[in-house]
Formats: sequence, structure tokens, C-alpha cells
Amino acid sequence: MLEIKEFNKIIVANWKLNGSNDFLEAYFEELDSKNLRLNVCGVICPPTAYIQNCYSKLHSLYLGAQDCSKFKEGAYTGEISASMLKENNCIFCIVGHSERRQVFKENNEDIKIKAAQLLNEKIIPIICIGETLEQKKMHKTHEVLKEQVINSLPPNSSKESVIIAYEPIWAIGTGMTASLEEINDIHEYLKKDIKEIEDYKILYGGSVNSKNASEIMNLENVDGVLVGGASLKADQFSEILKA
Ligand code: 13P
Repeated sequence: MLEIKEFNKIIVANWKLNGSNDFLEAYFEELDSKNLRLNVCGVICPPTAYIQNCYSKLHSLYLGAQDCSKFKEGAYTGEISASMLKENNCIFCIVGHSERRQVFKENNEDIKIKAAQLLNEKIIPIICIGETLEQKKMHKTHEVLKEQVINSLPPNSSKESVIIAYEPIWAIGTGMTASLEEINDIHEYLKKDIKEIEDYKILYGGSVNSKNASEIMNLENVDGVLVGGASLKADQFSEILKA
């Protein structure tokens, strides 16, 4: 398993359902991932179909997946197992993204099983949590995050083997980010007040771009970012990697 404690910042591109062979060619032609600071870990999570193609072009970056099956093997049409991801060089895998929770109705228990499968294969799960705008307005953010985290964390989890990503749902793809103070406070709450994830690495996601990445990553309690839209633009993601 990769030693994540060696890294000061972890910067993850989540391409979601985007890309093509032509896109990959052009992207890696333009992406500047040379001379990254040694303590920066850059990760690309393409759609599973492009994992092999991506791996051959990554150079100093690491490969991640966007999801995995909760099953090991068998009659589960369309699924991809953690061991298949491992064989295809995935070091990280996002689980429990809000789009999986909302569109595909995944619950904390599903996410916990997926994360456990990944840990068995020595892949680092990036477990996503986040509140809706409605929950935020009702001042339920802390409560919602705690409930998600505690119930999606696999039993053999540790701060060396699991990463948490805080992605407020209202900030995803909307151009609205949480304020710097809000981000830092919520990360502090997660790291210090929830003993199950004490001192875990916590990434922030939700409308991160090349303009705001540096100030977000400089916050004391932020260990990196999970980037959607801006990670599809090679020039922007190059800047974020160097922010
Ligand atoms: P955007 O950066 O497009 O807001 O998406 C964030 C996200 O969902 C990353 O996982």
C-alpha cells in the first residue's frame, strides 16, 4: 500500500463519465506533471474503460478508480471488483461519491463493504461524505457528516490506509465553494472531534479550480483536493498540481 503519510498534499482528478481515446491523447500531451514537489501526490481517476490507457501515460502521477463492486466475483453483470482494479494498477479508489449515493442509491453499508474490499487488495479508498444544501440550512452538517463517516468506515480502517473526502453536495459542479473558514472548520471537526477518523487525511471537493486551489490547500486542516470539472482541462489541472 502506498505510504500516504509521506505526502503533504493529495490532489485527485475525478473525470466522472467523461473522456475518450482522443481526449486522453490530447490531455496527457498537454498535462504538465513534471517537477511536482516530492510531497505532492497527484492522482487521475478516469472511467474504468480507460484505466489501462491512462496508466501507460501517467509518469509521476498515480492511478485511481471511481468506484468498485461490493462483490468479490460471480454473477454480477457489469461490475468491476477491487482485485481487478488492483491487477490494473489502481492505487486509489473513490467510494461513496454523492453521485453514487444519490443517483445509484448507494448507502453507507454498501460503501463500507466496498472500502473493506479495497483494503483487502491494498488499494486506498477515498470515502466521500457531504451534506445537501437543505441539511446545511438546517445546521445539520456536523451530524450528517458524522453519521456518514462512522457508518461507511470499514472495521480495519486506519489513517494510513483510508482517505476521507469532504464534498458538500451543493458545491459540486455549481461554481459555489464553501468559504475558506467553513472548509477549515469542518475539516478540523472531522479530524479532531470524530475519534474514529482522528488525524485522517481529509480532502476537500466541490468547485475547486486553478484559481481557488492554492488558498484551499493552504488551509491548516486540508490535506488536498478532489477535483471534478477543472480536472478535465489539462492546463487547469497542471496548475492545481503545482498550486
Ligand atoms: P466539481 O469539481 O466539478 O465541482 O466536482 C467535484 C467532485 O464531485 C469531485 O469528486
